[in-house]
Amino acid sequence: METVIKKITADKNENARIFSLGGEIIKRGGLVVFPTETVYGLGANALDSGAAAKIYAAKGRPSDNPLIIHLSRVEDVEKYAYTNDTFNRLAAAFMPGPLTVVLEKRSCIPDTVTGGLDTVAVRIPGDESARALIEAAGVPIAAPSANISGRPSPTCAAHVIEDMTGRADMIVDGGDCDIGVESTIVKISPDGSMILLRPGGVTLEMLTAIGDVTLDKAITGKLSGGERPEAPGMKYRHYAPNTRVVMLDGQVSEIHDYLKQNSQREKAGVLVFSDEVPLFSDLDVTVISLGEHTAEAEAHSLFAKLREVDSYGCDVFYVKVPERTGIGLAVYNRMLKAAGHEIIKL
Ligand code: TXA
Ligand code: MG
Repeated sequence: METVIKKITADKNENARIFSLGGEIIKRGGLVVFPTETVYGLGANALDSGAAAKIYAAKGRPSDNPLIIHLSRVEDVEKYAYTNDTFNRLAAAFMPGPLTVVLEKRSCIPDTVTGGLDTVAVRIPGDESARALIEAAGVPIAAPSANISGRPSPTCAAHVIEDMTGRADMIVDGGDCDIGVESTIVKISPDGSMILLRPGGVTLEMLTAIGDVTLDKAITGKLSGGERPEAPGMKYRHYAPNTRVVMLDGQVSEIHDYLKQNSQREKAGVLVFSDEVPLFSDLDVTVISLGEHTAEAEAHSLFAKLREVDSYGCDVFYVKVPERTGIGLAVYNRMLKAAGHEIIKL
């Protein structure tokens, strides 16, 4: 398959032509990779079962893992799902934005999109290019993250060009994604309370200001063999480089000492904030900087750094257990998956 790559620039007329071309491709059943404020998505017409099926093939994704449908306006949600009071309050506070809400679906959404569930996940991206593409398509766009299944979600054009060239009809290059981790997913219970299925840019603290929230066990815990998480995707191995990743629970000085002790028996790497890089200069380890010392910067760069890890030929990469507040909970959740839940307490 030939993949057309188009870059969003300051030229509004050219951008309009890009969205119109992308919209046409979606309408006729093709696949378009597009930027959002969280990660890049691999989009298809959510009302076309055959088009949605192509997404699973392109990603190599199990077909029981449902897709999020992306809309450009809150008013359209009611056409595809049954809304309720909690949804309305969430929408008023956080939409458009990095929030996905799981609602009871209407019959126009095919089973291919929902993996046979009677619910559908709905999101209105904050990114203007994403909304312009949805407008141009005139249909909801079903889109998972645009990575090959199992790899870290793509947060810049180079990642989607690497993963999706030859697999999608078009790639819209919108530069770097702002947030860098996928949207927060909330399911609304029949009593109106919220269940957090996946942490993201709309934080637990922000959701708690709207109402009661419980955390799905799959966010911070490891599910045992037969257990099924509420969000089917949370059960799959994710984000994991081929190199072993281990989380270290301790202070940076303790991490330094731990690496020093082990330096004879393993070729190690470490992911740290830029201000911590000099602390490791006396050791023979590969040091990757996560950027500025904030949870937001860590979220922004984590997936790109995880993609980089395998290029250093290390036996193991260490990363510090992050604070679990704010977007830190999302960073912690993605790291756990990359590390296969391997944490060493220092
Ligand atoms: O930020 C994002 O959400 C990105 C961008 C492209 O919008 N999309 C994304 O999609 O991360 P994906 O497919 O990689 O992750 C969607 C997650 C999966 O874990 C899936 O199991 C869950 O959402 N999900 C989808 N529909 C669901 C439903 N009806 N009930 C429960 N979980 C659902
Ligand atoms: Mg994904």
